[in-house]
Amino acid sequence: MSKILENIKAQAKLLNKRIVLPEGEDSRVVVAASETVKEGFARVVLLGNPEEIAKANPTVDLNGIEIIDPVTYDKTVTYAEMLYKAREGKINKKTGLPEYADVDAAKASILKDYTMYAALMLKAGDVDGLVSGACHSTANTLRPGLQVIKTAPGINTVSSSFIMIAPDGENKYNPDGVCVFADCAINIEPDAQQIADIAISSAETAKNIALIEPRVAMLSFSTKGSGNDDKFFKSVPKMQEATRLAKEARPDIILDGEFQFDAAVAPEVGKLKAPDSKVAGNANVFIFPNINAGNIGYKIAQRFGGYMALGPICQGFAKPINDLSRGCSSDDVIAVIAITALQAQ
Ligand SMILES: CC(C)(COP(=O)(O)OP(=O)(O)OC[C@H]1O[C@@H](n2cnc3c(N)ncnc32)[C@H](O)[C@@H]1OP(=O)(O)O)[C@@H](O)C(=O)NCCC(=O)NCCS
Repeated sequence: MSKILENIKAQAKLLNKRIVLPEGEDSRVVVAASETVKEGFARVVLLGNPEEIAKANPTVDLNGIEIIDPVTYDKTVTYAEMLYKAREGKINKKTGLPEYADVDAAKASILKDYTMYAALMLKAGDVDGLVSGACHSTANTLRPGLQVIKTAPGINTVSSSFIMIAPDGENKYNPDGVCVFADCAINIEPDAQQIADIAISSAETAKNIALIEPRVAMLSFSTKGSGNDDKFFKSVPKMQEATRLAKEARPDIILDGEFQFDAAVAPEVGKLKAPDSKVAGNANVFIFPNINAGNIGYKIAQRFGGYMALGPICQGFAKPINDLSRGCSSDDVIAVIAITALQAQ
């Protein structure tokens, strides 16, 4: 286990948060719930029918896991009422009708969609964090959170980041051996304001979860106006504007741009191309102009550079929600539970 994950678990243990896992039907999630309780870094609520979970996982120790069956739980109507109220007046894009005609319709819906059920438990304050996505798509995992949990104060964009961990704990251009890449997984073509939000949230993730002092670089193919793409995507002015907006909103964050990747990480290039910048040449948080650049970038670091990618970690929600990859292992689920518990601080 990487040292950073050990630190995250140790810090999460002190917080003793309660994390809901709505996918009781998935054995990887059940095994992770059992391990989490055994290791003691979070309390776990698993959604599903207790007999069915026990029958499907005969060798897993379920002691210490709280299992809630939404079909019989006495707060289900309260959650349905919360959902109806939160979404009143919203129109379903596909049908053109109200999302929920009444509380009964909301109840029927949450009994089919346990991720939404879990999001309502989170909204009610009955749990501190939510981890799902082992057997649901990213869109179906995040949509309940986007609809009822919404964003943290001062942030209008939910985004994601990867904590990138260097092989052997260090790299010439990344002396801490840890850095943060964003957004590689949620926002497809963010505008300048959304990129500013992503940068601010990523600085928080770097500080609170990766446990590094953030120095944020806004990435581009241009450094401080050296390149121009007025004709195509206007991505250079977008990153310049995002840099301005993020600095204005959070002057306390060490953040600068726009930079090419080498100007952001290599001291000799940074000095040459942006001599007055505090970030050039020693950045450790990297904000990409869109999901194409971010997703391709983190996979290059992973495959060619041997970096381990921890994430995607969702950021910007008012309360922590994280999305698992459908190819995840039980160990991956355990890591995401620990991260979510730490985000709930
Ligand atoms: C995040 C995502 C799932 C949202 O899609 P969606 O459910 O169709 O979103 P909608 O446009 O219907 O919006 C639903 C609500 O969430 C809000 N919302 C959507 N994206 C948001 C974001 N990034 N931040 C904050 N709110 C957001 C909308 O404003 C809307 O609110 P409302 O219904 O209260 O008015 C979508 O952007 C997506 O699929 N992203 C790419 C994910 C992906 O495939 N990743 C690959 C993994 S590597």
